[in-house]
Amino acid sequence: MPIGIFDSGLGGLTVHEAVSSRLQHVSFCYFGDNRNAPYGVRSADEVFRFTCSGLETLWEYGCDLVILACNTASSAALKRIQEKWLPSDKRVLGVFVPMIEALTGRSWGDNSPPRRVSVERIALFATPATVASRAFQRELAFRAIGADVESQPCAGLVDAIEDGDMLLANAIARGHVEALLRRMPTPQAAVLGCTHYPFVEDVFRDALGPIAIYNQASLVAESLADYLNRRPEWTGQAAVERFLTSGIPDSVSAKAIRFLGRNIQFESVR
Ligand code: DGL
Repeated sequence: MPIGIFDSGLGGLTVHEAVSSRLQHVSFCYFGDNRNAPYGVRSADEVFRFTCSGLETLWEYGCDLVILACNTASSAALKRIQEKWLPSDKRVLGVFVPMIEALTGRSWGDNSPPRRVSVERIALFATPATVASRAFQRELAFRAIGADVESQPCAGLVDAIEDGDMLLANAIARGHVEALLRRMPTPQAAVLGCTHYPFVEDVFRDALGPIAIYNQASLVAESLADYLNRRPEWTGQAAVERFLTSGIPDSVSAKAIRFLGRNIQFESVR
């Protein structure tokens, strides 16, 4: 029984790389819904529908625990999935909360009242759907007071990355940073709130200057390691590593190989 990792497309591979190197004894099965990417321009209902269907696919491959390596799905659909749809023998973990715990210096299960945090000005870069959901601000408000968040919906960025057009992706990322800096000239920290964005992290770093940049992949890996420590029964058994896609396997594999610099072969979902 592997642990599932789900994203709308290639972005979740950034999380896959971090969790599989942090947890080398655990097997993972990746599913990218490339045919329906990007999710970030879709309605919350559509994201919910596609995410539920992605989870059902991963269950068919034996993944009872799935990491939703997609902020758009985590912010627009996860709450509804956990409250109204998920069977009791399955678990789904999102990628938002580990990042907010890191930003606010809290550990898992710390339910103390919100307190003042050292980071007061946060720049959030995410998909239009994630920004519209205001899930980041909601989760932050449970834990922190006095933190000001300026969000930039990064239209077009995921499309360019999914197309493998990195010149365009770099230009779009830079334009979004400049747009945000006009509204918040001196952020103290930036959050890359989409799992695709680490593929253009250098551009974000260069355009933002020397501020802390929160990248989810390593935070999710630590958080999953902690979760499995507390709940070892979800660790699963050794299985062959698989990469599934609803898109065209050869084309998805070629982009993944280019992004990650190692050989990855995607296969069509059954
Ligand atoms: N990588 C996903 C995220 O973290 C989805 C992006 C998209 O499909 O628009 O939001």
